[in-house]
Amino acid sequence: MTTQFSVADIELELARYPKDQESNLQAWDAADEHLIKHLKETEQVSVTTAILNDNFGALTTCLRSMDPAWPLMVETDAKTSQLGIQQNLATNKLPSEAIEWLNSRDDLPSKIELVLMKLPKNLTYFAHQLNRLSQVLPVNTQVLISAKAKSINKSVLELISKHLGSASASLTWKKTRVITCVSDGKVRSLPNEVQWSVPKLNLEIRNLSNVFAANKLDIGAEIMLENMPKGNFKSIIDLGCGNGILGLHAKQLFPEAYIHFVDDSEMAIESAKQNWQLNKLDTDGLVGQQATFGWDDCLTHLDDGVRPDLILCNPPFHQGEAITDHIAWQMFLQSWRSLKNGGILHVVGNRHLAYHVKLQRIFKNCTTVASNGKFVILQAQKISKKAEPFETHTTEAEMVASEPHPQSSLYGAKK
Ligand SMILES: C[S@@+](CC[C@H](N)C(=O)[O-])C[C@H]1O[C@@H](n2cnc3c(N)ncnc32)[C@H](O)[C@@H]1O
Repeated sequence: MTTQFSVADIELELARYPKDQESNLQAWDAADEHLIKHLKETEQVSVTTAILNDNFGALTTCLRSMDPAWPLMVETDAKTSQLGIQQNLATNKLPSEAIEWLNSRDDLPSKIELVLMKLPKNLTYFAHQLNRLSQVLPVNTQVLISAKAKSINKSVLELISKHLGSASASLTWKKTRVITCVSDGKVRSLPNEVQWSVPKLNLEIRNLSNVFAANKLDIGAEIMLENMPKGNFKSIIDLGCGNGILGLHAKQLFPEAYIHFVDDSEMAIESAKQNWQLNKLDTDGLVGQQATFGWDDCLTHLDDGVRPDLILCNPPFHQGEAITDHIAWQMFLQSWRSLKNGGILHVVGNRHLAYHVKLQRIFKNCTTVASNGKFVILQAQKISKKAEPFETHTTEAEMVASEPHPQSSLYGAKK
């Protein structure tokens, strides 16, 4: 996998975040290259620019290298993107101080003169982003949106026209296109959150536009909710919480517990917070004192003092459009590090993902709690008398290499 980005006369070193991850995925794609090529060919000057959905900083670092003083605001819903952009600016010794960092709900400044965007996979979220832009962009502001050609069709162009202004797509280059939209100056209102009920748990769930399980319970979450662990838990993490459904139900089952919700998506964290309040889950009238809500990459920045006795996890198996299990690995590894001795990691996953191999490797134990044709619920317990044997971002390959018998039964019998 290459980290050498080279387009027009720009040469950069770009890595995904975290850098030490076991995936063959590149930190940018041809749609990033196309957008930069377009800016170069049209001799774009350094006006105040908002960059949205820049996965790991290809767009931000290019603009910064074209002009270190280019006025930039960078908006992302994913913490891993924000950290990745900052990491790549630092690697390439480009200044990050003057950049205005925004999440997907912050008020957009009114001084934007140009917008650069990557088309997100989730078109409901995309429409939400366009509506937000419509609230601040003066008429005739140029908005450039790049994407794979196969993701751009008549209905995407109509969606852009409806939510921001007329749009047309460029010719195809490296199977990508750049859409040029010109804002029409009309202000659109923001959509309401989607709300649905889980009657058997007596819970009401609200989802913001970029949150997993948009309008119904995920089937993996459902089997997890039917097979929650038993115990007297006091400190619980809902890791990759989405709308918070697992942590909300944990609070119903273990009313004395303190719940920590963590997700890479800022909208997920906001949804979990709203759902906590909507379902009135604080006991003893201690409003807001029995839960925390962390926008983070797994447990990378978890407060050192937090030692959970239970972690609930329905891990993602893709990042953007790429299928990957490195996030599940990182979640399990960091769970092992943060759990108190004797604490439990309770995981749901598609059977074919074979999470038991990873859990066994890290925890040296793993029990199947329940399964059906498609999903399996696994539990691993932290039993350790020794110092932590690995770092926060140790990859699975590094751990395999450090094992005394890498060809042991986890990979099948020795020949
Ligand atoms: C399969 S969904 C589970 C959501 C929810 N817990 C449920 O069961 O319905 C996985 C969640 O992990 C989050 N996620 C993805 N990458 C992450 C990361 N690096 N750190 C924390 N959360 C992440 C996603 O935003 C998503 O909300």
